[in-house]
Amino acid sequence: MAVNIYSIPWWKKTTVYQIYPRSFYDGNGDGIGDLPGIISKLDYIKESGFETIWFSPFYDSPQRDFGYDIRDYRNVAPEYGTLHDAEKLIEEIHNRDMKIVMDMILNHTSDEHPWFVESRKNRENPKRDWYIWRDGKKPNGKAPPNNWLSQTGGSGWHYDPSTDQWYWAAFLPFQPDLNFRNPAVQEEMLEIMRFWLDKGVDGFRLDILGSLFEDADFRDNPFKFKLLPSDSDQGMLFRSSEMTINHPDTIAFTKRLRELTDEYTPTRFMVGEVFGSYQSIRAFCGTPEAPGIHSVFQFKTFETPFSYEGFLRLLQESERWFPDPYMPTWVFSNHDRTRRITILKNDVRKAKLNAMFQLTVRGIPYIYYGEEIGMRQVDIPFEKAQDGLVSKFLKYPKWMIALLQKLTGGAINRDGCRTPMQWSSSLNAGFINNIKNPTITPWLPVDLEYKKINVEETKRDPDSIWHCYHRLLELRKKYPALAIGTMNIFAPGILPKNVLGYKRSTIVNGKEQKIYVFLNFSKKEVTFSSPIHTPKILSSTTVLTVPIKKDEITLTPWEGIVVHK
Ligand code: GLC
Ligand code: CA
Repeated sequence: MAVNIYSIPWWKKTTVYQIYPRSFYDGNGDGIGDLPGIISKLDYIKESGFETIWFSPFYDSPQRDFGYDIRDYRNVAPEYGTLHDAEKLIEEIHNRDMKIVMDMILNHTSDEHPWFVESRKNRENPKRDWYIWRDGKKPNGKAPPNNWLSQTGGSGWHYDPSTDQWYWAAFLPFQPDLNFRNPAVQEEMLEIMRFWLDKGVDGFRLDILGSLFEDADFRDNPFKFKLLPSDSDQGMLFRSSEMTINHPDTIAFTKRLRELTDEYTPTRFMVGEVFGSYQSIRAFCGTPEAPGIHSVFQFKTFETPFSYEGFLRLLQESERWFPDPYMPTWVFSNHDRTRRITILKNDVRKAKLNAMFQLTVRGIPYIYYGEEIGMRQVDIPFEKAQDGLVSKFLKYPKWMIALLQKLTGGAINRDGCRTPMQWSSSLNAGFINNIKNPTITPWLPVDLEYKKINVEETKRDPDSIWHCYHRLLELRKKYPALAIGTMNIFAPGILPKNVLGYKRSTIVNGKEQKIYVFLNFSKKEVTFSSPIHTPKILSSTTVLTVPIKKDEITLTPWEGIVVHK
């Protein structure tokens, strides 16, 4: 059956660039990134080839979790700008024919949100039931109501002496969970989304979506033989998470979210931050007859080794669990994890191979600001950390924090992946505009490597990571097979050892467009006879690629190529 590539919704064929507003560009010279700064850099994002921008939160917030603790959902944090700047941002993005996706934190607010300030005043307060309050364990109520853990470790219950009850917080103590069993809360949160949809935003990234509802009877989480949480199973400290994460009522609520976005044209979109097995995260997308949200992050990538076997398995599983009409997602970096190139031991060849995989397999790719120029994790000592999460761990010895940091993929002190965007080799990597006061420094230190790793440099070198991304992003626009085509993976044994290959194809103007990708996951050069006749190279991860001779393909170490007939 021929697919009309023009009738496919935009979000299925898009590429997403994630911006951490605090760190992108400081337009007013106070050391903190801001919306006017971002607006002045939109041309760079467009020029790079990205089509959609997702913003980590810029709502009004005490910034103890840098915006993931919201004080006012209908306003912008003063250090980032005004509501008017946000409207201008939406407009300027649309003017460039790009889309904007906002972060939406439904699960919790800041403890400084007026609702919580009211809620904690007394048990009779009309906002009391907007959060989750419980008596402590009998006989004297001085123990938490049950064994539920916060996702950051330790009990998620916090005692409030003035009303002698405990409130529940799935993340940090200053982020109290909203009570989604209260219909008024549901209505209000949908209204907030409507507020931004009416302003023209194209979609939402839904923060810790799996945590909206908990067990209605507050039953303990059962025992589970598991010490640390992983991306596919959030159980930890010998407790499962079935009473607190991915509850059936949360899955059911995705239908309401979908009804809301479906009211709007052109099509709006949602991606959920959810953790769990493929089966449990897929449930958030519902079925074609009863759809939930449009897509979910597949964080399996974070726990997969960079190898032929690892990436073959990722692909097979992704295709098995997210076949058409589902759309997979591909993410290797974000504001919570160690930067990808650091995981790849700063090997630029591997980073480019990773990019080619991400931009040519079936799915929606998410690229974290700076990933496209090879920005590295910056080592920021725990004592100097800005990340609110760190405070929770300072009581432990240093070696233990360092170990936990490693075991959780950088999720304890997240500052290191949030350092200022490196624009140029000038002072502060060009992050601060027009320094009226030269003593101002960026809110986090810039990477000392910034003189080598920055936007200006990377554009100058045709063999840079940025040029590799740029070529691939343009290729996806030119060849719809790459963005929306079907995918067939070469079975193991057909290609040489450690070469991962697949075919993408779709019908364009009545003709089949076929694109092949070959990725060399090894440090050895390989030569093999091409499985298709007279292939032509459309793109390589390196300008030093070996030309194809007589149907013979040669891949240099860690090289990937895209070919067609
Ligand atoms: C998500 C965000 C993270 C934030 C947390 C609490 O995991 O990605 O940055 O701290 O939720 O909102
Ligand atoms: Ca600023």
